[in-house]
Amino acid sequence: MGFQEGFLWGGAIAANQAEGGCHEGGKGYSVADMARYKPDIDITDYKAHNTISLDRIEQAIHEDDQLYPKRRGIDFYHRYKEDIALFAELGFKTLRISIAWSRLFLRGEEDFPCAEGIEFYTSVFEEMKKYGIKPVVTLSHYEMPLDLALKYNGWTSRKMIDYFLNFVFTCFTNFGEYVEYWLNFNEIDSVIRHPFTSGGIIPELCEEGKELECAYQAAHHQFVASAYAKILMEKICPHARMGCMLTKLTTYPRTCAPQDVAAAQQANLENMFYSDVMVFGEYPKLILKKFENEGIHVEMRPEDAEVLKEGTVDFVSFSYYMSRTESVDPNAERTPGNTIAGVRNPYLASSEWGWQIDPVGLRISLIELYDRYHLPLFVVENGIGAKDVVEEDGSIHDSYRIDYFKQHFIEMEKAIDMGVEVIGYTSWAPIDLISVSTNQMSKRYGFIYVDQDDEGNGTLDRMKKDSFYWYQKVIRTNGKSLHDKE
Ligand code: BG6
Repeated sequence: MGFQEGFLWGGAIAANQAEGGCHEGGKGYSVADMARYKPDIDITDYKAHNTISLDRIEQAIHEDDQLYPKRRGIDFYHRYKEDIALFAELGFKTLRISIAWSRLFLRGEEDFPCAEGIEFYTSVFEEMKKYGIKPVVTLSHYEMPLDLALKYNGWTSRKMIDYFLNFVFTCFTNFGEYVEYWLNFNEIDSVIRHPFTSGGIIPELCEEGKELECAYQAAHHQFVASAYAKILMEKICPHARMGCMLTKLTTYPRTCAPQDVAAAQQANLENMFYSDVMVFGEYPKLILKKFENEGIHVEMRPEDAEVLKEGTVDFVSFSYYMSRTESVDPNAERTPGNTIAGVRNPYLASSEWGWQIDPVGLRISLIELYDRYHLPLFVVENGIGAKDVVEEDGSIHDSYRIDYFKQHFIEMEKAIDMGVEVIGYTSWAPIDLISVSTNQMSKRYGFIYVDQDDEGNGTLDRMKKDSFYWYQKVIRTNGKSLHDKE
């Protein structure tokens, strides 16, 4: 019972939030490089961080890098050796990274990749290999080359499929020997919540009133691109496996009133529709009917159906940070939540950013997904953003983080004991990095502290938090230490 031998414990980061080196090695701007840090707004007001327009982009291109934290990240671009050594010290069996599309293809439309980009990722993979750390690689983690967004309105255009496949081909042929686990699109469902970050969609380039339709169209192109990528992977890297990646937003009814239950059911269907397509190779009938009922027209080519069927995924990966609650009562108390606002669940505490902490929800999610898909699962993101305090002696006592992980691991173990097949677990993020939603540095997730503030001041020195030693022990004992008497 408990975690099987060889369970892949590790951590997850993304190029756009960690690397920095925005103007180095031939890299072009990606959509992430347009995200400006705003010190003066409510951190629970997600929308305020994510408004985008052509003017805004034009301004961003000419403004000082200082205002755009993802351009500097945590300097993983130069410090990856030091960071990977720390991950090895933690005992990592795996590290999830992403490959920045715009580091290999500056504008996205070039025929051939940038040699320096290839060199950089090859060295990263070599470094991981040195320590026996298996890479899990996300092909697309909010890193579309900016030019593709400007010129084609991102994934709303079918042209993206070819550009993406050229990038994917480059990844498979150059890095295939290192990688067993590939993920197609990070949180593919997020294109509905933040269309620019996830799909390179600029609202004013969509027909008025058709913004939602544009997002579903983009998702369709991503499904087709994923399927083609999977087919390509089987040819080039037959030893590898491809997973889809979903934001698992398990939704509970606020009460047992049937109307609330129905509302929660609908939210769950809409959340899992994305993985349904990539696992079953076809659209759920209920979603097609929803499109019809709501007048949403998604352009699909006749050959898409066959490709979706052929290019289904081998496993299902997902992020899990919180559960959601639904109610039809317009007066039900709401929680702000800087990514996903919803009805407040009175049984759950929230993080400072309004994310409702629910370890049991992880168990529920694992069971639900396994029962639905009958495929191995990979938890590739889970963690808590918190403000840490560095003591005078340099120590960082983050018992809240240890507590969060401990409870989630225990629930994950319960699901495994019930028979759910889990390949591994990568925490978000093992090292502090730039927040995707708020562009803050002070929303810290790591076991490793990075000395940098929201404005980019600091030495960038890495320091171990208490949770570092705690996670190290969990990995060393393959989870047995979770049951130690305190
Ligand atoms: C996930 C993303 O949505 O959540 C990550 O895949 C992100 O890129 C993580 O960093 C946590 O969100 P945030 O906004 O706290 O960085």
